[in-house]
Amino acid sequence: MAGLDSPGAPLQGVRAAVFDAYGTLFDVASASERAREALGAKWQPLAELWRAKQLQYTWLRSLMGRHADFWHVTADALDFAMESLGVEDAGLRARLMSLYERLGAYPEARPALQALRDAGLALAILSNGAPRMLAAASEAAGLAPLLDAVLSVEAVGIYKPSPAVYRLALDRLHLWPNEILFVSANGWDACGAKAAGLRVAWCNRAGQPPERLPERPDVQVRSLAELPALVGA
Ligand code: LAC
Repeated sequence: MAGLDSPGAPLQGVRAAVFDAYGTLFDVASASERAREALGAKWQPLAELWRAKQLQYTWLRSLMGRHADFWHVTADALDFAMESLGVEDAGLRARLMSLYERLGAYPEARPALQALRDAGLALAILSNGAPRMLAAASEAAGLAPLLDAVLSVEAVGIYKPSPAVYRLALDRLHLWPNEILFVSANGWDACGAKAAGLRVAWCNRAGQPPERLPERPDVQVRSLAELPALVGA
């Protein structure tokens, strides 16, 4: 992997850590999991199809030039997933959307962010999420007090991996691309940020193979807990 300044802390020199939200800080499957007594064995297929469709709709809407915010896209994806799996229940749909607003954070997220902040890094979220969704989820997970900025694609009206999204981090944080470490658990998002010039850590929790897309992340970790050591914290 490229970008090694020193063997002990390969990401030395970064001044801000910018996190993807859904799948990276917040566990997107936790909404369906919290409703598993209502969904039964369908909770997991529903979680997977909901997420897959949600992402597809962001990419398709971006290509179609028909942007709608992430709340809208998330609801459309849930409707598709519920109908596909034969789950028809308006009350359950409302509950799942409400759970999505307050997703659980991965257990290591808060301590990792705290350690990075203690090391003097600025911290931000850069996400497809609508501002209201990101504010609610960050508050619910106790991450809000640690964040210097919460950046939403709504500022540019197109979804990741458009370079316009990653440029938001440069514009808003007033830093050079090599001073920003973008962190994502979504392999395609890591490639997108790298293509836009940022330094990138791919949090590959599931041990997936690398995406066959242009660009490779600078480093790969299995957990956010590995990040502080990599930036010399
Ligand atoms: C986000 C999506 C990619 O938070 O999960 O931007």
